[in-house]
Amino acid sequence: MDRNAGLYRDLDRILLTKEEIAEKVRELGKQITRDYEGKTPVLVCILKGASVFFADLIREIELPMTLDFMAISSYGSATKTSGVVRILKDLDNDILGKDVIVVEDIVDSGVTLNYLKQILFQRGASSLRIATLLDKPARRKVKDLKVDYMCFDIPDAFVVGYGLDYDQKYRNLPDIGVLSPRIYEK
Ligand code: IMP
Ligand code: MG
Repeated sequence: MDRNAGLYRDLDRILLTKEEIAEKVRELGKQITRDYEGKTPVLVCILKGASVFFADLIREIELPMTLDFMAISSYGSATKTSGVVRILKDLDNDILGKDVIVVEDIVDSGVTLNYLKQILFQRGASSLRIATLLDKPARRKVKDLKVDYMCFDIPDAFVVGYGLDYDQKYRNLPDIGVLSPRIYEK
């Protein structure tokens, strides 16, 4: 039996397979490589959700780069945004004059990224772009948030796997699936 069978039982369906994800991540890596030719961008991973995507994406970008990590919280363990964003771990390095690419797992209401963009711009980044694995445009509250790079546009469902969690679990699933509502409605 598959070692993850227990986790897969909590899914209603698989939305994106690991092969589909890998192909898109490869394409995105190529695009970023072209767009940042001659530059040394700073890739910022938003912990913990983007960690799996980040690890794959940086290895598909053929450029010199530096990495940094930031942890923010807007959720607790609920499936809906609270609108309150807290910095749990800040960047280690200065981004003044740098070309920053923020790597996120999913843009939902957009509250988290909108806030992050504002604070990172105030620190004097010379450019700032957002790369997200998933986008749920149906739920956007911040209408004018610009998402520069996106791998998949997904329907309004709560998804887990490939870094995304529910109550800190399911991050290690290689595929992305729709979590069965019975898990969070009980
Ligand atoms: P936003 O501020 O509403 O855009 O929230 C973005 C954050 O909410 C993401 O970084 C995720 O941590 C979390 N999130 C939103 N939708 C989902 C989902 O379907 N599955 C898991 N986490 C989600
Ligand atoms: Mg997140």
